[in-house]
Amino acid sequence: MPNIVFVTQQGLEKNVWVENGVTVMEAGRDAGLGIEGTCGGCLSCATCHVIVDDDWFVKTGAPDEDETDMLDLAIGLAATSRLGCQIEMTTALDGCTFTIPDDSQ
Ligand code: FES
Repeated sequence: MPNIVFVTQQGLEKNVWVENGVTVMEAGRDAGLGIEGTCGGCLSCATCHVIVDDDWFVKTGAPDEDETDMLDLAIGLAATSRLGCQIEMTTALDGCTFTIPDDSQ
């Protein structure tokens, strides 16, 4: 069961363990960590924006064209920004770290 390390908007690290196939959005939303996932994962909002830790970005991969278009709506964009609903957890991503950006600014 892969572990996700979330860095919250308050700067705290929270570990969440999920089944393979669960998305990063679902994990963060269900754990109450401030990820909304308003559209339910159908790539039509940007409320699941996360910033992938630099060392893990190679493994998660870069966003495709549709995801990049939607990311343009996100606040606090970074070079390793992704939409959490587009990242399914697998054993290969065990320990991956995602920062939840502060979108209140
Ligand atoms: Fe809406 Fe990810 S939950 S784009």
